[in-house]
Amino acid sequence: MSRVAVVTGSNKGIGFAIVKGLCQRFDGVVYLTSRDDKRGMAALAELNKIGLNPKYHQLDVADRNSVVRFRDHIKDNHGGLDILINNAAIVDNDLRSSNYENSKNVIDINFKSVITIQELIYPLVRNNGRILNISSDCGHLSNLRNKNWIERLSKKNLKIEDLYEFVDWFLESKKNGTFNSEDFADGGTVAAYRVAKMCLSAVTTIQQKQLEGTNISVNSMHPGLVRTDMTTGVGFYSIDQAAETPLYLVLDAPQTLKGAYVWFDRKVLDWYDYNADYYFKIKTLVN
Ligand SMILES: NC(=O)c1ccc[n+]([C@@H]2O[C@H](COP(=O)([O-])OP(=O)(O)OC[C@H]3O[C@@H](n4cnc5c(N)ncnc54)[C@H](OP(=O)(O)O)[C@@H]3O)[C@@H](O)[C@H]2O)c1
Repeated sequence: MSRVAVVTGSNKGIGFAIVKGLCQRFDGVVYLTSRDDKRGMAALAELNKIGLNPKYHQLDVADRNSVVRFRDHIKDNHGGLDILINNAAIVDNDLRSSNYENSKNVIDINFKSVITIQELIYPLVRNNGRILNISSDCGHLSNLRNKNWIERLSKKNLKIEDLYEFVDWFLESKKNGTFNSEDFADGGTVAAYRVAKMCLSAVTTIQQKQLEGTNISVNSMHPGLVRTDMTTGVGFYSIDQAAETPLYLVLDAPQTLKGAYVWFDRKVLDWYDYNADYYFKIKTLVN
């Protein structure tokens, strides 16, 4: 039976480069997925042109029916999968003060979708499989300034309910106009994205615990500031450079690396170090 690797949101950007690298290095079937068939097929054609042949399937991570269809496709055609990279994401449409609707959308796509995927797709991940959640520097706990929430998110027995309450507290503040930018680093810029990515990195450790008894690893990582549409082309790294550490984590890292928060240079960081200077600064992106 062939081994199978899947990358969400891989019609462009870092996800696309990860699919490319997997096609070159992974001994098995690689899935390029996209929420939009047209964009997905265009990406596929681009890889075909250079002699790479991933499979394609539609997957909108925020649409439960789409996740179910994809789950069924993998189950029926392959029986399971070995590598899953949760890469799909969007950023706040207003970097300094996104509204409630947009903030909710960011959290649904960047965080809650991974809970749906955990429910529907993780059960198909075979033993010794590797799951990687593409987080961000915005996902490190040092992005948070609110003392109560720092304490709550630092709990060693953190539960998914804590994360849902954190999200509700944030979204409520956006809805009723009580959002306080001082609760977050860097004056509260891209606050929804920070909340979503902190939740994603935090839930990674919960997911790892829930997989106890298997030899499946779940890690999260920050890919660096990368020149993609998300950053309007600003960044220190190309997409191919940015794909190197994700590829290392799913192909080469020791299987004992579990529940970690990994930086783009492969360094494992202490996610709980809320005083550290790992948080995202908007000045690296815009003047
Ligand atoms: N670029 C950076 O500097 C940077 C830094 C830190 C972290 N990251 C993270 O790295 C990952 C890749 O980002 P990127 O820079 O490559 O961004 P990107 O070029 O904007 O690509 C994002 C991808 O996610 C897809 N996507 C968005 N919503 C989706 C949904 N509901 N279902 C399925 N796919 C969806 C997009 O599809 P469409 O084309 O349909 O929109 C696109 O393929 C993200 O998790 C991002 O947060 C990036």
